[in-house]
Amino acid sequence: MEDKKRSKSSRGRKKAALYENLQLLRDVANSSSSSMSKTSIVVDASKYIEELKEKVERLNQEIGTSHISSVQNPLPMVTVETLDKGFLINVYSEKNCSGLLVSILQAFEELGLDVHDARVSCSDSFQLEAIGGENIEGQIEGNMDAQMVKQAILQAINNWSETNEQKTASAQLSSETFYATTCSNALSTIKSAVNSAVSKERRMGASLLRLHFHDCFVNGCDASILLDDTSSFTGEKTALPNSNSVRGFEVIDTIKSQLESSCPGVVSCADIVAVAARDSVVALGGSSWTVNLGRRDSTTASLTAANNNIPAPTSDLSALITSFSNKGFTAKEMVALSGSHTIGQARCTTFRTRIYNETNIDSTFATSTRSKCPSTGGDNNLSPLDLTSPNVFDNAYFKNLVSKKGLLHSDQQLFSGGSTDSQVNAYSTNLQTFKTDFANAMVKMGNLSPLTGSNGQIRTNCRKTN
Ligand code: HEM
Repeated sequence: MEDKKRSKSSRGRKKAALYENLQLLRDVANSSSSSMSKTSIVVDASKYIEELKEKVERLNQEIGTSHISSVQNPLPMVTVETLDKGFLINVYSEKNCSGLLVSILQAFEELGLDVHDARVSCSDSFQLEAIGGENIEGQIEGNMDAQMVKQAILQAINNWSETNEQKTASAQLSSETFYATTCSNALSTIKSAVNSAVSKERRMGASLLRLHFHDCFVNGCDASILLDDTSSFTGEKTALPNSNSVRGFEVIDTIKSQLESSCPGVVSCADIVAVAARDSVVALGGSSWTVNLGRRDSTTASLTAANNNIPAPTSDLSALITSFSNKGFTAKEMVALSGSHTIGQARCTTFRTRIYNETNIDSTFATSTRSKCPSTGGDNNLSPLDLTSPNVFDNAYFKNLVSKKGLLHSDQQLFSGGSTDSQVNAYSTNLQTFKTDFANAMVKMGNLSPLTGSNGQIRTNCRKTN
């Protein structure tokens, strides 16, 4: 009976403490004002906590992308004074985030400390003034003293900092002005090198675009594809989709060495590849897009992931949809991205079966393509992916598909009586829609799992780790 009573009153205390804490959190989440309002908490506490978590997450992300140094250094100030019935707690920290408050309140709960009154400011810096300690029955739990409370708060701040630094290390990419102060000529250097390479050989624009795709689909856009094999390291260059096929490494080397002389150790190889892909599309007549920047370079590569994650030209529609959906793309985005095949070339070995064995192919197209790709031998003979304008970034690729002139089996799968036919039709008749959807999908592709913050490194030479 006694036990029951005790557990009931302890539940009551916990409930009251939770309500107090929720009240405090609500004030901070709803405004950055410094005083508590007396509005009561509405029932759905768990929903509210979820919303709060999202808010904290957003704030953490903002901090992560804004100024790393502000997260690293300043020492928090914590004072705890013993009062008649509890403690007067003051916390000041330059860390301006309500995530910190959540962490401190958790510490209070773990200590069994009730918050009776509090003022919080979470705008420029974090300030908390709280009276707490005495529980609902007027007793302080255990033999809690001011030093214990202070230690617990400091520990909570520490825990929060560590989590936040981890988040910073894997923060989002930044805007295109990322190198504005550290390497102001980065973008112009990349653009002129790409323009010059493309004017020497138009196909290079296609090759640089594909390089970015093959980088991003294999554990994110981290320049892993650029790492050379050594006696003790196996990279991605010998993977089936890359071997004897992916091109453009020398162009990236040229850009990297120019940038290393003007701003050593600043511009990542992964960012160079991403910007070069965009500039290539623009050089061949496509629409531009804004490349988010701040990717860092991997110190590892994965041959297995390269073999598994890049779709094969033998893929059917469902495999293509799955492969892109594994990376977070819709079928529509997959169709838009496949529009890349409006530029560039493919080797005979990748389309031989189609031109000799398939039936959903225009017969004149099949005959003329066979003349350059014998049924045996000539594996490396090239044919344009878009037979009409392989050096122009237009929508001819989709027009070809509609007339059964797709070169790869995987290309024609997009228009073969399946769910993507209507999208192919739409792009074949609306150049601007295709260009816009393509640009948006490229931004999304460029954001795949980047290394940021303190993850990875800025390679000095794109072919090897530092
Ligand atoms: C939908 C699945 C895809 C498949 C199955 C596929 C497959 C292929 C194959 C087999 C080649 C010819 C490679 C060779 O013969 O050496 C090729 C070339 C190319 N691919 Fe894809 N690809 C796909 C998606 C993409 C995407 C999403 C992009 C870019 C965002 C892209 C850009 C290119 C370019 C530009 C070329 C020509 C490269 C050059 O001429 O050097 N492809 N692709």
